[in-house]
Formats: sequence, C-alpha cells, structure tokens
Amino acid sequence: MNRLLPLLIGAIGVLLLATLMLVILPAWQLRTSEPPAPLKPYTVQQLQGRDQYVANGCLYCHSQQPRSSGQTLFDTARGWGRASTPGDYFYDSPHLLGTMRTGPDLFNVAARMKSRDWHLTHLYQPRAIFDWSLMPSYPYMFELKAQLEPGDVLVRLPESLQPEGKHVVARQEALDLVEYLLALDRTYATTSQELDKRDRGYDRRPGETLMDSGAQ
Ligand code: HEC
Repeated sequence: MNRLLPLLIGAIGVLLLATLMLVILPAWQLRTSEPPAPLKPYTVQQLQGRDQYVANGCLYCHSQQPRSSGQTLFDTARGWGRASTPGDYFYDSPHLLGTMRTGPDLFNVAARMKSRDWHLTHLYQPRAIFDWSLMPSYPYMFELKAQLEPGDVLVRLPESLQPEGKHVVARQEALDLVEYLLALDRTYATTSQELDKRDRGYDRRPGETLMDSGAQ
C-alpha cells in the first residue's frame, strides 16, 4: 500500500471529472431562466394530480420526452408532439421524463385527448376502451354509489362493465389526476435557441427545416 496517495488522487480526480461532466456542465448547458410564454404554471389541483401520477407509478410505463427527428424513432410522426426542449419542463420539479415506454409518451397527451370523461373511463378500466390494453386499472380512485349526489362525476362505462344497481363515481384523486393529464400540452412552437439546447448529437437531419422541429 505504498501507492496510497496516487490512488487517492486518481480516485478523487475521476469523481470530480464525473461530477463536472455529468452534473455541473449539463445543468449549466440546460439552465433556463425564462419559461416559454405559452407555458402556464400548474394550478394547485394540477399539482395534486401530478402527485397522484407519481404515487401511482404512471412514470414506470409512460415517458414525458418526445424525441427529435435525429433520434431513431421520430415521435412527431407518431402524433406525440414536437421534440421537447428544456424550457418545456420549467414548472416540472422534478421532471417526470421516465425511461420506459410500455404506453405512449404523455408529454402532450392533452393535445390529442381532451375529454375528461375519456380519461376517467380509461383510468377506471383501460379495457373498457381497448380490450388489448395492458395498462392497470385504478378502481380505488373511484367509488360505487347506489344514489348519485349533487356534484358527483359519473364515469361512463359500457353496459358489460357497469356494476349492477350502482353508479361508478370519480374520487377527488381521479379528478385531480385527469386535471393534470389535461394540462400536458407543449405543442406550442418553440424557439431555435431552445432547440439549440438539445443534445447536438441528436442534430437535425440534412435538409430538415426548423419548422419540422417545431421552431418558430
Ligand atoms: C404497466 C404499464 C402502465 C402503467 C403503470 C400505466 N399505463 Fe397508461 N398506458 C399503458 C399502455 C400499454 C397504454 C396504451 C393502451 C391504452 O390506451 O390503454 C396506456 C395508455 C395511456 C393513456 C392514453 C395515451 C394515448 O395517447 O393513447 C393515458 C392517458 C394513460 N395511459 C395514463 C396513465 C396514467 C395516468 C397512469 C397512472 C395512474 C398510467 N397510465 C399507468 C401502460 C401503463
């Protein structure tokens, strides 16, 4: 062990280099001082819905990061919106990028599915809509009631899934979660400065215009 000092210096050096390259430089590169003008802060209810999204593990199956045209599969072509840029996450702390895509990317889900009723039915039982869906159902976000009360939000279901003599009513957590989903829309045009903050390794393909990437 007469080489302890060089070993220690080497180890600390590697750690410092890794911190610089993986933490400090990316944070500096992606710093965003201003939110994009069209992006609104979340309301209190939407933030509560966001907590439900985290608590129920939605991000284990859904990403929130549409890819750009330079990446292997171009998500805009799938209808998932333009590639996201750092500013789109201004109000997301922490961001919910996700790594798995068992289900579709949800970063712009509100732009393609605007119906609260659709989302409630889908959360109560995804197979009410797609019999092939492997998304879990979330029945505990709903309650069965014999009598509807004023203010109750009724879940619309096909005859076969309608519990006999009972109404399926959304609990507050389901309403909050859907309010959050309906806020996920970053399809507004981004700026070329924002696009430049994306990894240059995923650069635009030759001949592709800024418009293809959703820039103004
Ligand atoms: C086990 C994986 C899995 C989990 C966990 C999961 N989903 Fe899904 N989700 C899917 C799959 C697969 C689909 C596509 C089939 C469908 O629409 O049911 C989907 C579809 C969706 C869609 C429709 C999106 C579109 O563009 O068609 C929404 C909205 C959605 N999920 C929301 C949620 C929310 C909210 C949660 C958490 C409460 C959640 N998902 C949890 C797998 C999952």
